[in-house]
Amino acid sequence: MAEQSSIHGLWRSRWLFILAAAGSAVGLGNIWKFPYITGENGGGAFVLVYLLCIALIGVPVMIAEVLLGRTGRQSPINTMTAIAKDQQVNPAWAGIGWMGALSGFLILSFYSVIAGWALNYVCTTAMGVLDGVSAAQSGETFSALLASPLTLLFWHSAFMLLTLAIVSRGVNKGLESAIKLLMPMLFALLALLLAYAFTLEGFWQGFDFLFSFDLNKLSSDGVIVALGHAFFTLSLGLGAIMAYGAYMPANVSIGKTVLLVGLLDTLVALVAGLIIFAIVFSNGLEPSAGPGLLFQTLPVAFGQMPFGTLVGSLFFILVAFAAWSSSISLAEPVVAWAVESLGMSRMRAAIVVGLVAWVLGLGTILSFNLWSDVTLFGKTIFATLDFLTANILLPLGGLLIAVFVGWRMKASDVQTEADMGSGVLYALWRVTLRYIAPLGIAFVLYNGLK
Ligand code: PHE
Repeated sequence: MAEQSSIHGLWRSRWLFILAAAGSAVGLGNIWKFPYITGENGGGAFVLVYLLCIALIGVPVMIAEVLLGRTGRQSPINTMTAIAKDQQVNPAWAGIGWMGALSGFLILSFYSVIAGWALNYVCTTAMGVLDGVSAAQSGETFSALLASPLTLLFWHSAFMLLTLAIVSRGVNKGLESAIKLLMPMLFALLALLLAYAFTLEGFWQGFDFLFSFDLNKLSSDGVIVALGHAFFTLSLGLGAIMAYGAYMPANVSIGKTVLLVGLLDTLVALVAGLIIFAIVFSNGLEPSAGPGLLFQTLPVAFGQMPFGTLVGSLFFILVAFAAWSSSISLAEPVVAWAVESLGMSRMRAAIVVGLVAWVLGLGTILSFNLWSDVTLFGKTIFATLDFLTANILLPLGGLLIAVFVGWRMKASDVQTEADMGSGVLYALWRVTLRYIAPLGIAFVLYNGLK
């Protein structure tokens, strides 16, 4: 396709694209979700399958998604429409963009509620409420938060407003300035907490839990959760990375850049896992505590360490920051589309998108209290949204992206845009994208849903 330009602006450098993509990838998925699903799925074997999914499926699909974005230079919906036309294939391929928009709304709706928990914990930790708490007291504090729809609503609203504030300012003034500041701070604080975790007696037990592979502990459910999480944590399959790819300068190598983002994301997840399981095992807590794991375990550690109030408040601020730099990428594809196709101002588009996601979020809030016994297929509203998006819609989106770029686009166009030359790396990517990724996803989806 002829060189396109983006009406939304471009990242000012390769590093800003890396920071932005890493900002999208590194979020609640790494710090909150990865540890608790690892705990629920028995540890090491699950982690191994997850790492395989990242390397063999996630990274190849991510390269394809960035490539699509940079070729089309528009919102995912319009990018897919334009590329399908240019490649003279069925216009229904634009469905990748539409399905992604739906997933984006659904994820943003519950993502904001969980990020709200982190905001709440910034306050409770800073006010010293959690000073010196026992594991039992910490659990009670968390349950009390979930039991209060109004508190949850307050923080959900606050977080959604924060997201809108950035998205409405656009790529350079909003997204870039926020990310430049937040990401380096997050890495520094994680390093500090890792050093602390290392001093705990349970560190190596946690290490073993994460890295010793006992295949008997892995269920077929675990495999689908691992694959789904690979997509969720890399922000793949819904167009977030495609939207960011649309703002990527033309002279940047997609392959190397994506590899770096994948490595950073994996590193943060593993470090978060090491920190949390060190605390879990040092305090005799349950690794399989579920979605509350992060919020119940860490206050116990903060309560005991020197300067715990300070370190604890900083930590939850950073969790909120990490969530923030991800939530803006959930909103960006639809906001960009509304600007392009509905002629809305960025501000207005951001408000509409935020409002819809905010209303949907009420379902998640109520699923922790008043509607906790409202279930679909035996899952609460929150669990259904989580399962439907991470384990079905995102892998399906990834499957379609792999098939589209691997089989429907002209190989010569793909090679030019990928700009990886024609060496081993390119060949390796082609093979994984055309065979391993689609077959792997199809196999796991089929087995998981059957
Ligand atoms: N990758 C983000 C995380 O790990 C979540 C996310 C998913 C963001 C999909 C954008 C798109 O928290």
